[in-house]
Amino acid sequence: MSKPSILVIGTGYVGLTCAACFANQGFKVTGLDIDEDKVQLLSSGTSPIFEPGLDELLTAGLESGLLEFTTSADAASTADVVFLCLPTPPLPTGTPDISILRGAVMQHREALKSGAAVVTKSTVPLGTSKDVAAWLDRDDVHLVSNPEFLREGSAIHDFLNPDRVVVGSLNHDAALVVQSLYDGLPGERILCDPLSAELIKYAANAFLATKLSFVNELARICDEVGGDVDAVTYGIGTDHRIADSFLTPGPGWGGSCFPKDVAGLAALARSSRLRVPVIESAVESNRDHFDHVITQIRKHVGKSLQGANVAMWGIAFKAGTDDTRSSPALDIAERLTAEQCDVRAADPVAKVDGNLFTQMDMYDACTDADLLVIATEWDEFRDADLAQVADRLSQPTILDLRGIISPEAAAEHGLTVHSLGRP
Ligand code: UDX
Repeated sequence: MSKPSILVIGTGYVGLTCAACFANQGFKVTGLDIDEDKVQLLSSGTSPIFEPGLDELLTAGLESGLLEFTTSADAASTADVVFLCLPTPPLPTGTPDISILRGAVMQHREALKSGAAVVTKSTVPLGTSKDVAAWLDRDDVHLVSNPEFLREGSAIHDFLNPDRVVVGSLNHDAALVVQSLYDGLPGERILCDPLSAELIKYAANAFLATKLSFVNELARICDEVGGDVDAVTYGIGTDHRIADSFLTPGPGWGGSCFPKDVAGLAALARSSRLRVPVIESAVESNRDHFDHVITQIRKHVGKSLQGANVAMWGIAFKAGTDDTRSSPALDIAERLTAEQCDVRAADPVAKVDGNLFTQMDMYDACTDADLLVIATEWDEFRDADLAQVADRLSQPTILDLRGIISPEAAAEHGLTVHSLGRP
């Protein structure tokens, strides 16, 4: 039997990664996007986003002829499996806006091949699969929910090495076709109904965000009463029920997924008049954590923030990506500049337009700064030339929000490193 052909509608972070990875797995894949410039760029083998390994997969896919990009809606009529990878930006209420998704489904519904599987891939609000099936209004086309669990910065690795592949459908044959797309990959297969599949995605992100809020609270406790958060997280992480990953305190969780998904789940519960204090508190705790970070910055600047100079290393919400959506670094910069503190920022990849801060070379940012704040865990910062940092800072102090600089190594250059929850 020939391999199913794939159409990916929407070539953002999720769509592009999926398209490139499915082509890598030997499937014929078309990436469809309304943005002509982007399609042209992709067709020339250039990724518009920074994602390690993506350029290579893109080039290989194009060269093999298995991967192509188009703006033409005709592509919908020949695909066996159609992945919907469209944005669902949050409305002011926290509820994701599904109008773009609806528009795409309405545009292509009639052209779809009989027997095609339509798959929701990027995160959609709970119940969207049912909505999509209603919009499709086609008995001969089957809806499948196949949520992604891709971390930016390691999306290719995560796609090719999944912990699990979740396939939710009311149509067993369609579920098996979608499951078969992952035959070459490891990981458990979970077949369920579409709503459960959607909920698995939300639950995973809400649980992980809650875990981080908890860990950041432990760091705050250590900052107040003593103790070393690394020893504490190691101590609890050895319990296999807790598990040892996702336990590193940081500047607070951000990115394009956690804030949106946790708010989306909480909004859904509210709209059903359900109390979900654990999920709500995860968000509140993260907000408190940002306050704690500003308190620490104030303390280590050692004078009024008004007129102070702070160097900030890291703009992206985490290392390995150029994504600055809901980046804690931007939140910190906004709060500092609101107090007339001068912020100079550096990031190896991410860029931000506007006048929130001046962006420059990482060492230049340190010149005459009262404090160096490390907001993103890039290797460039981990391996920094500390002698240069010490030469440039006006006060020899680093607030390392990611715990990546060795205090001992820094001390050799006369630098004092403060870190969340660490003595
Ligand atoms: C997340 C999910 O992990 C992924 O499965 C999902 O599909 C998309 O959302 P991503 O947003 O790329 O991925 O980032 P992730 O690596 O999960 O980190 C989220 C936030 O938590 C970041 O702000 C990160 O810096 C922070 N974090 C993560 C910590 O502060 N400490 C940790 O130990 C891990």
